[in-house]
Amino acid sequence: MKRTHHCNELRPEHLGQTVSLTGWVHSRRDLGGVIFIDIRDREGRTQTVYDPSDLPRETFDQAAALRSECVVRVTGKVRVRPAGTINPKIPTGEIEVAVSGLEVLNQAEVLPFPVDDPEVAGKVNEELRLKYRYLDLRRPEMGRNLRVRSKVATATRMYMDEQGFLEVETPTLFKSTPEGAREFLVPSRINPGQFYALPQSPQQFKQILMVAGVERYFQIARCYRDEDLRADRQPEFTQVDIEMSFIDREDIYQLIEGLLKRVWKTALDQDVPTPFRRISFQEALNRYGIDKPDTRFGLELADFTEEFRESAFRVFNSTVANGGVVKAINAKGLACATQGQMDTMTETAKNFGAKGLAFIKVEGGEWKSPIVKFFSAAEKAALTSKLGIEEGDLVLFAADQWLNACEILGKIRLYCAEILKAQGKLNIPANRFDFLWVVDFPLLSFDKEQNRWYSSHHPFTAPVADDIGFLKTDPKHVRGQHYDIVVNGVELGGGSIRIHQPELQKTVFEEVLQIPPEETQLRFGYMLEAFKYGAPPHGGIALGFDRMIAILCGTPSIRDVIAFPKTAKGTCLMTDSPSAVSPRQLRDLHIDLKVPKKETPPAN
Ligand code: AMO
Ligand code: AMP
Repeated sequence: MKRTHHCNELRPEHLGQTVSLTGWVHSRRDLGGVIFIDIRDREGRTQTVYDPSDLPRETFDQAAALRSECVVRVTGKVRVRPAGTINPKIPTGEIEVAVSGLEVLNQAEVLPFPVDDPEVAGKVNEELRLKYRYLDLRRPEMGRNLRVRSKVATATRMYMDEQGFLEVETPTLFKSTPEGAREFLVPSRINPGQFYALPQSPQQFKQILMVAGVERYFQIARCYRDEDLRADRQPEFTQVDIEMSFIDREDIYQLIEGLLKRVWKTALDQDVPTPFRRISFQEALNRYGIDKPDTRFGLELADFTEEFRESAFRVFNSTVANGGVVKAINAKGLACATQGQMDTMTETAKNFGAKGLAFIKVEGGEWKSPIVKFFSAAEKAALTSKLGIEEGDLVLFAADQWLNACEILGKIRLYCAEILKAQGKLNIPANRFDFLWVVDFPLLSFDKEQNRWYSSHHPFTAPVADDIGFLKTDPKHVRGQHYDIVVNGVELGGGSIRIHQPELQKTVFEEVLQIPPEETQLRFGYMLEAFKYGAPPHGGIALGFDRMIAILCGTPSIRDVIAFPKTAKGTCLMTDSPSAVSPRQLRDLHIDLKVPKKETPPAN
């Protein structure tokens, strides 16, 4: 008999029906001669019952021998569970199937870890889960993540189609054109000594598609970056990549707000209010110390540069005299911070090159601090009023150049928030989503080591029209037509209005970024040429699809929403990649290895 129902479907109204289920042996209990087995499939689970008085001995013995995760087909009659044995936690908890036929479709050996325990992720180390990813993915929590991902991809495609976008695939064998991150290279067999590069994003192709007259392009695109990996970064990841012609920033904001509304409704049945708030890069740094602020809680930074300009405290007055700022944050209720926590925070400041991290602990009605003796009454009054200082507070200071001071306290703000949240003193609601647009980024940032300007985003971003005149004279103050979409402290995506005039693009490459003309020609010549034949004004954005799904699934790691992710060292533990290749393959690729052959690690 073929499967009649999925394991989440049967209810009391199916009473008396003969049904057939297929799936895996999820869990079992032997109770006084009667065996209860939960059968699990993709959709859910159902309790099946094996009673020796109703079954041929052989079938009962077979059931008795079933191991966890064997694959079975069972046939039987639906009956209502006796009162007291109803399980309200699962949708099929009111019924069970009294089995009359059992077919074992495949055996399973003892598993390296149980899949029927929702706490597995906390108990089993992630390496083991990644090595046996197919078992990890059997866990209902992981199955749900895959399903959310699939549903959101479908909703995205439908929305983009309704908005008149064409989905166009762009090559993944591309050309090396450093865009920011390091690239993965692919040697060409038929072009000795030459390499493709895997694209960091479809950026250049999507702009070329605008020149090609596509007008509205999107792609759920795979991107590759050879970066240091973290919880929110993978070497290959997915973007919802978008580009449009004849538009300005407002069109992008509207489109993306509509898309996120649709996605949140689809995945969480939540109505996201629009339009989203907008905040300038400057304000984000000033208030939150980061360009992707989590605005679900306060603990904002305050500025005391003017108050401490003439201070008797040398660290502060000399910083201000050197063009720096003095900023502070009040970690409300954290005077109880341990020495270890204080050391961690000081270390953060030192990593940014500061000599230390001045602080005040307010305890027993007293300001406990090595530096408060230097403060005048007026300085203390300013601190109290701007920071609302009260008993039990911890005030932390950063005196440094503006960006550094902001970033130090931005990190410390997040660290303090974690501690305060764990202590129950700060509420950061997990099911609230604070979307915001971060705008008015500086077009360029300065690289002190190389003594030159580089693009804050990428070199195709257009300057704000009013600022174009300053490109060569005052690069620092040129704003880019760049925008980031941020939610709860995560950079979900970013994009910009692009440069579409070939002369301006050439100026940016050669005169602002100081890329030698020959190199510009080699790397971007085809783009500059394309722009000569009628490039429409255009702009776009890319959303990090994995990050979006991780937020929707409430997990901090994008590895939990990617079927087969890499480890922090960029390896796949299941297939054991990357791996060595044969001398013959190398010869075909004209490659001579200089590295010593990797030893096989000793088994332990
Ligand atoms: P950007 O480099 O900002 O822009 O990338 C866009 C978004 O992609 C996600 N993302 C990542 N997700 C997982 N792992 C990674 N290693 C990773 N790197 C980036 C982030 C990020 O916000 N071509 C431009 C977009 C444009 O200008 O239209 C681009 O790629 O969520
Ligand atoms: P010092 O006079 O250098 O011993 O520093 C006195 C206090 O100021 C110590 O608590 C340091 O941790 C702190 N401090 C030093 N440099 C900075 C800085 N750039 N910003 C904030 N606090 C600092």
